[in-house]
Amino acid sequence: MKKYAIVYCSKTGFTKRYVDMLKEEIDCDVFEAKKLKNLNPLLKYDLIIYAGSVMSNRINGFKIIDKNIYDIENKKIIIVAVGLTPPLDQVLEQLKSSNIPFGFEDKIKVFQLRGGLDVNKLKFFPKMLMNSIKKRLLSQPNRNEAEEEMLEAILNGADYVDRSSIIPIIEEIKEFEKHQVIDVEVV
Ligand SMILES: Cc1cc2nc3c(=O)[nH]c(=O)nc-3n(C[C@H](O)[C@H](O)[C@H](O)COP(=O)(O)O)c2cc1C
Repeated sequence: MKKYAIVYCSKTGFTKRYVDMLKEEIDCDVFEAKKLKNLNPLLKYDLIIYAGSVMSNRINGFKIIDKNIYDIENKKIIIVAVGLTPPLDQVLEQLKSSNIPFGFEDKIKVFQLRGGLDVNKLKFFPKMLMNSIKKRLLSQPNRNEAEEEMLEAILNGADYVDRSSIIPIIEEIKEFEKHQVIDVEVV
């Protein structure tokens, strides 16, 4: 039986690419968050990775885990948050405080990875939001570096997916595996 599960939510494919890379590295089963009605299918796994894209600081699809978190409270949980923002401690802290269920702050490890932007693949409301940001940025005379990058991403797309950024996640999983082996030997 496989020990690990990845649950994911990807709106335009960037997160899914990281999920595929992780699947190549670890022996796991993969579930799409929107197809899960509850966490029963996950109960047989020792470690659960939730990978979701970030929209307005919220991790897409994470609700299914959040509202049923006590069903899997004894398992190792890793969150992989995929956004456009470059990984920064401050951004990571914001992501944690907006998404990790109360009481699980020290239990759940969060990794922030960089995805990209493809406005053409977005649904109506997110696309509208990106269009209004585009209009605002175009009419703004002095744009800082981050704003220029955002505008460029909206106009021409952006792709920052980088295989090397999954290395710390694999290391975290290996560390978990090591402890599992030690626990079994002690028992
Ligand atoms: C409406 C909207 C809001 C977004 N908000 C954020 C955000 O708060 N932080 C961030 O880092 N990226 C944000 N992004 C960028 C997405 O997280 C990024 O495009 C991600 O790679 C999409 O991955 P997916 O294709 O797997 O859904 C936003 C994108 C959209 C369309």
